[in-house]
Amino acid sequence: MAFTASKGTFDVIPGLDRDFGSEQWRRVVDLLTQPARLAAYGYIETPIFEDTALFHRGVGESTDVVSKEMFTFTDRGERSLTLRPEMTASVVRAVNEHSLHRGQLPVKLWYAGAMFRAERPQAGRYRQFTQVGIEALGVDDAALDAEVIALGVRAFAAVGLPHVQLLLNSMGDANCRPAYTELLRSYLRDNLPSPNAETLRRLELNPLRILDDKRADMADVIAGAPILADSLCDECRAYDAAVRGHLDDLEIAYVDAPRLVRGLDYYRRTTFEFQHGLLGAQNAVGGGGRYDGLSESIGGDPLPGIGWAFGVERILLALKAEAVAIDVAPRCEVYVVPLGAAAKKAAVRYVDALRGLGIAADMAYGDRGLKGAMKGADRSGARLALILGDRDLAAGEAPLKNLTTGEQSPVSLDDAAAHIAAALHDLS
Ligand code: HAM
Repeated sequence: MAFTASKGTFDVIPGLDRDFGSEQWRRVVDLLTQPARLAAYGYIETPIFEDTALFHRGVGESTDVVSKEMFTFTDRGERSLTLRPEMTASVVRAVNEHSLHRGQLPVKLWYAGAMFRAERPQAGRYRQFTQVGIEALGVDDAALDAEVIALGVRAFAAVGLPHVQLLLNSMGDANCRPAYTELLRSYLRDNLPSPNAETLRRLELNPLRILDDKRADMADVIAGAPILADSLCDECRAYDAAVRGHLDDLEIAYVDAPRLVRGLDYYRRTTFEFQHGLLGAQNAVGGGGRYDGLSESIGGDPLPGIGWAFGVERILLALKAEAVAIDVAPRCEVYVVPLGAAAKKAAVRYVDALRGLGIAADMAYGDRGLKGAMKGADRSGARLALILGDRDLAAGEAPLKNLTTGEQSPVSLDDAAAHIAAALHDLS
């Protein structure tokens, strides 16, 4: 039996006929991250796998991500390693490791790459998926929270998805969160309908996780639970108001979401999620928040931070649902069809020269006949095809066909690439 991609994984392949081929996929990554690049964020790559303890301590034992979904393995040196389920913990590790926070603050970074979570696959939920994200570290300033959120809003606008809803909440901080957690724990103890072992574990580790439980029989209990907004300390309340003030100044609309608890334990104060209405259950196209304290929890320096990550595949699904086309540069602009041995030698030179001029060019390989080669020309998506016979070489000119209109006109083969480039220029 032939192999296929593992469950929950997929190939991203080129294809002009597809809704989204790999070119569109790359373009979407580019568009989503452009606003961050315009805001002085630098690119970071970190390893695909990390010490397992980084995620246990950074992301949190009570989360589904850490307790159920990590791809963890032991290497030959008996070290426990894990394929990264997210990148914030890795970025904070790297910032500490390279002392980036001893330079200009905030440290601003963006990333794009594969993440791994052993979830049950379904539309919009995969075991290997792509996140683009930004992180801004070292400064605790509501204006920076607003910048991070604004760059997310701009990212969605850049790909052509204006109807993404922004949900906003504050998770409190070390000052006010413990009291709220206790309040919630005692409410849940009194009101949970026959909790299972997992719920009891969460009740002890982090009862906020229970607010994220999507099971139908939990809905009423969750709806009646005390909300964090009522327990925020004065500092958190003022910080939240300042963030909202900046968002208002930027004319960024948001929905107040007092029950938004994100799926990772490190959040403090500002938290947010971007949702798209046409995606069904997997409607979160992105999410993020402030994670002051994460750095200390992984043994780093005190280092506040805020960021977000977006799911590229979910965004592609949203683009498809909204019938938004992603324009990409054509893979091929000029296609050369050699008919004969001498013509082939010349064609090899011409396509190389065209590429040297920055023009995407390809040719028919494999000595196909004219009909087969012209089919190749059509499939290539090229706008012009040079049909080159051995006799044309002798004559010094060959027919250049406009593949859109079917018109043909002769082009000089003396410096062929330059003449073809000029003909292409005339088309645009
Ligand atoms: P997250 O909410 O776990 O946050 O993931 C961010 C986004 O990744 C989600 O909104 C979703 O679009 C996408 N995503 C997550 N899991 C899957 C999956 N199994 N299949 C497809 N897409 C998925 C984080 O990861 C945080 N690190 C975000 C952050 C950055 N917070 C602060 N800085």
